[in-house]
Amino acid sequence: MKYLVCNFKNKLNKEDIIKYSNKLNELGFKNIELVICPSNIYLSYFSGDNYKLGVQDISSFIDKTITGEVMGEQLRSMNVSYAIIGHSERRIYKNELNIDFINKINNAIENDIKVIYCIGESLKEKEEGNTYIVLEKEISEVLNNVELKNIIIAYEPVWAIGSGKVPTNEEIKENIEFINKIIKEKYDTKLKVLYGGSVNKDNISELNKIKNIDGFLVGGASTNIDSLESILLEFEK
Ligand code: PGA
Repeated sequence: MKYLVCNFKNKLNKEDIIKYSNKLNELGFKNIELVICPSNIYLSYFSGDNYKLGVQDISSFIDKTITGEVMGEQLRSMNVSYAIIGHSERRIYKNELNIDFINKINNAIENDIKVIYCIGESLKEKEEGNTYIVLEKEISEVLNNVELKNIIIAYEPVWAIGSGKVPTNEEIKENIEFINKIIKEKYDTKLKVLYGGSVNKDNISELNKIKNIDGFLVGGASTNIDSLESILLEFEK
């Protein structure tokens, strides 16, 4: 199964969402697990049977009563099947740490919500030649401490997110090879690995040539339904 995960972030208003969701129900495609991750306030507008519902965050608290938090159990009751965890925007702007990711992963897994765990190097780390060190650290410091069940990795170089810049196919392939190697060595298993960072309708056919990719995490380009449709058409080839 290949995956296309759409991360709307904090974009789109109610009218946009209603139009989007109506058109989404009409899209036809095969052999792709399409996951739509809108803001939580719009979850109830999405209920098609050609896609799954995901969230961009989940609470790191399990048994506490906390204002503003959304728990795994609540999300499950809204038919949420996936949760993005560890996104670089949350690492950077919300100062989320490994302990938060571990708790969030547990909260998701306990409620049968699959995890899309994001990792990736910053531009500085790339330029200093530390990409592999960062990837290994982000994998082991979190995944050593959770049950490796229903976890998908999203490799998202921080410098590629929302920047219009993408690594070369060779770079992506090598970094995914490295992620697969580390996961095999440490946990003797294979996890699905997606690529994310400035994927759009113009570069998807080129990115789709990378053999060891299990799918894509798309941000900005997924917020426009026509652009999503073009991406799906290329991706299913
Ligand atoms: P982008 O975002 O496609 O807009 O670069 C990807 C992401 O942040 O997951």
